[in-house]
Amino acid sequence: MAETTKLMDKLVSLCKRRGFIFPSSEIYGGLNSCYDYGPLGVELKRNVKDFWWKAMVQTRDDIEGLDASILMHPRVWEASGHVANFTDPMVDCKVCKARFRADEIKPEKAGQCPRCGNKDSLTEARNFNLMFKTFMGPVEEAANVVYMRPETAQGIYVNVYNVMQAARQRIPFGIAQIGKAFRNEITPGNFTFRTREFEQMEMQFFVKPGTDMEWFEYWKQQRIQWYDGLGIRQSKLHFHEHTPQERAFYAAAAFDIEYEFPFGWKELEGIHNRTNYDLSKHQEYSGKDLSYFDDQTRERYVPYIIETSAGCDRTVLTTLIDAYDEDVIEGEARTVLHLAPAIAPIKAGVFPLVKKEGMPEVAKKIYHELKKHFPAFYDDGGAIGRRYRRMDEAGTPYGITVDGQTLQDQTVTVRDRDSLVQTRVAIDKLLPFIQEKMAAYKRME
Ligand code: GAP
Repeated sequence: MAETTKLMDKLVSLCKRRGFIFPSSEIYGGLNSCYDYGPLGVELKRNVKDFWWKAMVQTRDDIEGLDASILMHPRVWEASGHVANFTDPMVDCKVCKARFRADEIKPEKAGQCPRCGNKDSLTEARNFNLMFKTFMGPVEEAANVVYMRPETAQGIYVNVYNVMQAARQRIPFGIAQIGKAFRNEITPGNFTFRTREFEQMEMQFFVKPGTDMEWFEYWKQQRIQWYDGLGIRQSKLHFHEHTPQERAFYAAAAFDIEYEFPFGWKELEGIHNRTNYDLSKHQEYSGKDLSYFDDQTRERYVPYIIETSAGCDRTVLTTLIDAYDEDVIEGEARTVLHLAPAIAPIKAGVFPLVKKEGMPEVAKKIYHELKKHFPAFYDDGGAIGRRYRRMDEAGTPYGITVDGQTLQDQTVTVRDRDSLVQTRVAIDKLLPFIQEKMAAYKRME
């Protein structure tokens, strides 16, 4: 337990110090469970999103992209069941005023406050709707209530035929979207693991009834493999099949991909066979026919949906936790992030060995050249070992050093963050050398 807290504390502190993630509104004391991504964090997050988009949209012919609005017609959330059912049971401690999710209280400790320990101090459980409400227009009255979407999925469902027709797709096909979602979580926590504002990366795949379980299995495999490319160790991932109690009543099958976080195995992504529930409900509430007519087989049906729903912030946190390591090199401790080059915020650090003899000029030229292709960082401050360490901590996979020999034969050394091997490479071969190394990268277990 102490080790767990230590690792999370160290990671939170590294994120702040190096500019991955800051507490929101920090000068005002912060806002509970809200975070801002700093210069390195925003690059990491963009890379994760690009990696997902490339796998789910760019390299496929059967998935189209969408960016739907956060505010939607309030009837959407009645149809989806969120107004009636998107609730958590909540209890309050009458003594210390702390608030908990009732399902997080252990049955053998019923009535006892987990914070102050007082017995019989908890209120009866009340259902609390997790959707954030706001008002559209200047008058704050019930008729103007709109909700901040609690998932991106509904924006996809209501657009299925717009997208299908515009992109000339046929079933089976999917729609992918990355965007913000909001949930008024009762107990947010574990840094960015559970927050009230977060981004989702969701894909809804529309299929013919009867073919749904085949597609479900296909997407399960696709999605778990995706994390391998992201550099997350497969030994830290597994599937968790929803128990009948966990599974939504309409779902024919539901699995989570779970990661072994320092605070236990927890959900990273959900893969659900949602049957024709969503489109049937929107059909009922909107009064619009949402069935699909297959003009080749002359069949009409309401499509089934296989959903893959990943949390972007949670994935970013996972890449950081999975990458975090401490080791000792030549008697000196170092903190290193073994981030995959594809998502590392900076791909290469460029260093002149000393700040004289023309080395900074050569190093700057290399730096400016590399920056045309990927984010690079120039550093001539302090001992070379310290400069390597700073890049290790930022997860930068390659360190390029201009030294005395460079001035003789136009070669530099390339240091590999993980193996620490240094290779001499001609300056004019440097870019393809790094690009090949990035493409061949494999995470060490
Ligand atoms: N459309 C289905 C859906 O939203 P979910 O299991 O509620 O399913 C999907 O959410 C993913 O979104 C989760 O696996 C998680 O990665 C992320 N997520 C959900 N709630 C979150 C929160 N409060 N903070 C951060 N990420 C969250």
